[in-house]
Amino acid sequence: MSQQFKGWQFQQYPVGLPDHSTVSLVEQQLPPIAAGQVLIRNQWLSVDPYMRGRMIDAKSYVPPFQPGQLLEGGAVGEVIESNHNDFPVGSQVMHMQGWRELAISDGSDLTPVGGHGLPLQSYLSIMGLTGLTAWAGLNKVGQLKAGDVVFVSGAAGAVGSIVVQLAKLAGAKVIGSAGSDEKVAWLTDTLGADAAFNYKHSTDLGQTLRELAPEGISLFFDNVGGAHLQAAMANMQDFGRIVSCGMIDQYNAAAPVAGPSNMAEFIRRRIRMQGFIAFDFMADFNEFAAEVGGYLASGKLHNPETVLTGIESTFDGFLGLFSGANTGKMLIKL
Ligand SMILES: NC(=O)c1ccc[n+]([C@@H]2O[C@H](COP(=O)([O-])OP(=O)(O)OC[C@H]3O[C@@H](n4cnc5c(N)ncnc54)[C@H](OP(=O)(O)O)[C@@H]3O)[C@@H](O)[C@H]2O)c1
Repeated sequence: MSQQFKGWQFQQYPVGLPDHSTVSLVEQQLPPIAAGQVLIRNQWLSVDPYMRGRMIDAKSYVPPFQPGQLLEGGAVGEVIESNHNDFPVGSQVMHMQGWRELAISDGSDLTPVGGHGLPLQSYLSIMGLTGLTAWAGLNKVGQLKAGDVVFVSGAAGAVGSIVVQLAKLAGAKVIGSAGSDEKVAWLTDTLGADAAFNYKHSTDLGQTLRELAPEGISLFFDNVGGAHLQAAMANMQDFGRIVSCGMIDQYNAAAPVAGPSNMAEFIRRRIRMQGFIAFDFMADFNEFAAEVGGYLASGKLHNPETVLTGIESTFDGFLGLFSGANTGKMLIKL
């Protein structure tokens, strides 16, 4: 039978920080499912900083949202009607038709999840792309090793909080930055970072890093860019590695942003910097899931979440990523 549902529709490309003219919550009708299709009731939605990139009308590694379309994003839910042998009613699935209550699929975009005793939403965070980003960025791109001095910017966020913990488990010294004193205390007291600082209180990020890592940073996992990147470059050990994961500092910039003014550090300190996209490491997913799943099962990893409730809260949850409203993964529970 046909079903009424609520979902978020993209309206117009924002300049600067998105606002309530960027998207709107609409009600739509889904047709009855056809042969080979399933109807999914989404239970958890992911909101992620990269979605801001899809609100820019330019070519990137994912296409921009088009005005009038329903927004997309990671979601997990349960099959509630099925004409598909592989996904009977009750199947738990992950897919990219988020930002809405219901979704229809022919199964080709569905990943079965659940069954390992993990909360369903963990497939949107530590056991999903967020965890893969942290694990692959550190190990495959950053070549993490025991004894590294690791600096993590955006350390209390979804990716950052996993990076901090994995680096500690690997025997590194870990320093994290975050945007509140509560997050800073949580990074050291709960996640076990060796040091952390509130970047909003630092008048000289370079000096702060010099004090916390007098031996220099051997591996910088950067979620922020901007002033964080410039300060880290000035404090890298010779042959240090910079893993460029994100540049949230500039996602809402209304005009082109200047780069670091100290690029000569790359030569002087023989720094190597590499950007990456988590999708590049899908072939390593099983290795990631075995290692991180093992740590989770043995209680060695915290899986922090900030949860908002109801489809109406999705856009506020997304905006909250840019004001630091989350500790760990920002999730929407439907
Ligand atoms: N390369 C990839 O494949 C990939 C995959 C996933 C994510 N990423 C990137 O990784 C980064 C983290 O993503 P996430 O999903 O884990 O998000 P997140 O860290 O959970 O959420 C964003 C956090 O960034 C901080 N922030 C926001 N604006 C900031 C600014 N101007 N300066 C400094 N910090 C700021 C806020 O925390 P504070 O309170 O500390 O300010 C906020 O909580 C993002 O840049 C994202 O684009 C990349």
